Amino acid sequence: MALKHHLDDKVRFDQQVDNSSSYLVPFLEKTKKITSGTRVLEVGTGEGGVLLPFIQKGCSCVGVDLSALRIDIANDFLKDEVAANKVKFICQNIYEDSFFSQYGGYFDIIILKDVIEHVPEQEKFVPYLKKLLRADGQIFFGFPPWYMPFGGHQQVCRKKWLSVLPYYHVLPRFLYKAILKMGGEDDVVIGELMEIKDTRITIERFERIVKRSGLKVLYKHHYLINPIYKYKFGLNPRLQWKPITWLPYLRDFLTTCVYYTVG
Ligand SMILES: C[S@@+](CC[C@H](N)C(=O)[O-])C[C@H]1O[C@@H](n2cnc3c(N)ncnc32)[C@H](O)[C@@H]1O
Repeated sequence: MALKHHLDDKVRFDQQVDNSSSYLVPFLEKTKKITSGTRVLEVGTGEGGVLLPFIQKGCSCVGVDLSALRIDIANDFLKDEVAANKVKFICQNIYEDSFFSQYGGYFDIIILKDVIEHVPEQEKFVPYLKKLLRADGQIFFGFPPWYMPFGGHQQVCRKKWLSVLPYYHVLPRFLYKAILKMGGEDDVVIGELMEIKDTRITIERFERIVKRSGLKVLYKHHYLINPIYKYKFGLNPRLQWKPITWLPYLRDFLTTCVYYTVG
C-alpha cells in the first residue's frame, strides 16, 4: 500500500522541507556553523525540499540525483531559487569526471538523507564523497538500518499485507522474492526491493566504512521512531533508549533510523 507521500510530489517536497528545518539543520548545527555562503551538496536530492532551509540561510546549494524526473520536479518546485542561482539541480552520476573536476574539494557539507542504503559499493562511495569535501567539511548520513522492521523498504509494496509485514526482508533472497511474487507484487517493485537487499547497510558496517575512509563520527542520533514517521504515520519522533544504542547488532532490529555527521 503506497503511502500518500509516495504518490504526491508536493506532499513529499513539503515533508522534506519540514524534516530538514526541524531535524536535519539543527542536527548539523551541533558540529558545523551553517552561514551565508556555506557550500552544500545533497546527493539523492529527489524533489529538492531538503535543500530549501539551507537556501533560506544563504547557503550555495547543489542537488544531484540519478532520476531525471525528480530533478525536473526539483527545478519546478524551486524555480525562483534556481533562477536566482541559489541552487543548481543536476541529473548526473557524481563519479563522472566532469562532476569531480568541477566539485572536487569544494563542499562544506554533503547530505545523504535516505540515500546511502540505495548506493552500491558504499566502501568506495564514502571515500569518494570525502574527496568532494573541503578540508574541514562534514557529511551527514540519515538512513534506516537494514535489520529494522521495514529496512527492506517493503512499505512501498502495492499490496497492503506485504507493505505492513515486518522483518520478512531479512529472509534469504529467494524466499523473500517468492513471498513478494506469491503476494502478487509488481515486478518493478520486486526489482527495486531486490536492489535495496543488495545494497543494504547496517549500523555496524556503516561505522566500519566511516572509520576505514579516514573519517570520524562527530555526532549521532539513533531513533526508536524515525522523524519522518511524523508525516507517514502521525507518530512523534523518539530517540532510542540509550542502553539499546550500546548493543551492536541487536540495536539494528529496534532502531528505525540513524543520523550521523562525520568529518
Ligand atoms: C528515498 S529518495 C530520498 C530523497 C531525499 N533525499 C529525501 O530525503 O526525501 C532516494 C533518492 O536517491 C536517489 N539516488 C539513489 N542512488 C543514487 C546515486 N548513486 N546518486 C544519486 N542519487 C541517487 C534516487 O534517485 C532517489 O531520488
